[in-house]
Amino acid sequence: MKKINFIAITIMLSLILSSCGSTQVAGEIGTNSAVQKPSASESTDEPLPKTYDQSSVKVRPDDGRTVIGISMPDKLLERWNHDGTFLKEHFEKEGCEVVLKFANNLIDTQINDIRSMIDEGADLLVITAVDGAALSSILKEAKSQGIKVVAYDRLLMNSDAVDYYVSYDNYKVGVLQAEYIIEALRLKTSRDSKNIEFVTGDPVDNNARYFYQGAVDTLLPYLENGKLRVISNQQGFYETSTAQWSTDIAQQRLQIILNSYYPENVKLDAVLCANDSTALGATRALESDYTGTNKVIVTGQDADVPNIYSIIEGKQSMTVFKALRDESVVAVALGLAILSDDTPDGQLITNSGWGFDCTYNTTDYDNGSKIVPSFLLSPITVTKDNLEEELFDTGYYARNGAGLIYAVE
Ligand code: BGC
Repeated sequence: MKKINFIAITIMLSLILSSCGSTQVAGEIGTNSAVQKPSASESTDEPLPKTYDQSSVKVRPDDGRTVIGISMPDKLLERWNHDGTFLKEHFEKEGCEVVLKFANNLIDTQINDIRSMIDEGADLLVITAVDGAALSSILKEAKSQGIKVVAYDRLLMNSDAVDYYVSYDNYKVGVLQAEYIIEALRLKTSRDSKNIEFVTGDPVDNNARYFYQGAVDTLLPYLENGKLRVISNQQGFYETSTAQWSTDIAQQRLQIILNSYYPENVKLDAVLCANDSTALGATRALESDYTGTNKVIVTGQDADVPNIYSIIEGKQSMTVFKALRDESVVAVALGLAILSDDTPDGQLITNSGWGFDCTYNTTDYDNGSKIVPSFLLSPITVTKDNLEEELFDTGYYARNGAGLIYAVE
């Protein structure tokens, strides 16, 4: 592994961030008691570059290369393509060699991908699992060779080989979706009861349960007092889940529900969809099989381009936006700190000067084997009303000459 100039890294990352044009607020300090708040004499506006002891940089194997293996779950979903690109670009800018692979949503392919990264001399693995619980053996192998592991976006389960977790606050994603529904259906003041259906995520993705729990906890008072009803009676996590987050599966399940439980005189008010791929399935099902004339509230997550159009056209009501560029910036800074044989904590946030919210959490992400120290970013609600401001004015998305929307890379 090649030695890394960490002062240069700090400056580079600050540059990457300033070019992002983010308008979000400065990072908070997390729950770790070891984290020190900056003293009054220190300005939190200025990045505080950390000086690393270069002689402590660990070498595995001593081949003069710093190799990063990035294993993404699939190329079908828009976001993983962007995550892969951002991570690769940022690590390469720091002089690392990158092996980036997409597993086509197949567990065996992902295990083989990771094995070949180990063989290619990886010093650090950044992994978003297809199935969070299926990688324990290969991770054990990585650990035995001294390779560091960062779980990216999805927690890696049942393994003590996971060093850190970088993600958005997954529970909050569900809270934001539910809060939108409460507001849009005026549940606090309305006297009528409203009907909702749930389309949740892939049960082998640990995030899916967090999204679900955040949403259900927030909606619970209304489900309990009868202001919200689930006519299909399908309300549990597994019975409402969507294998592989598939648009088609979400569409088919909602079509069956609409045909079975929503005849002409029964109104559906909202469909809580865990993300944008499932929301796309839900809006298609509503178009083809819903006989009511009201606008059905549909939630989502990711701000995928087809869903941005869907929001503009009024078919989807909101999405929860998670800036992937920021998530990758945190993962890269963390990865480089780990490779300097450092044990990063909330101080990484304080030192970074990031222009976005990030908290350090050492309590909430238990993977069954250990509580994985986590860096969590903060998601935001995007609707037709704030879409220009949050997605376009910030530079995350743009329109080309023909007016077509694209995500800026
Ligand atoms: C991610 C979501 C994504 C979903 C499907 C989840 O783990 O957090 O952003 O929509 O996977 O790929």
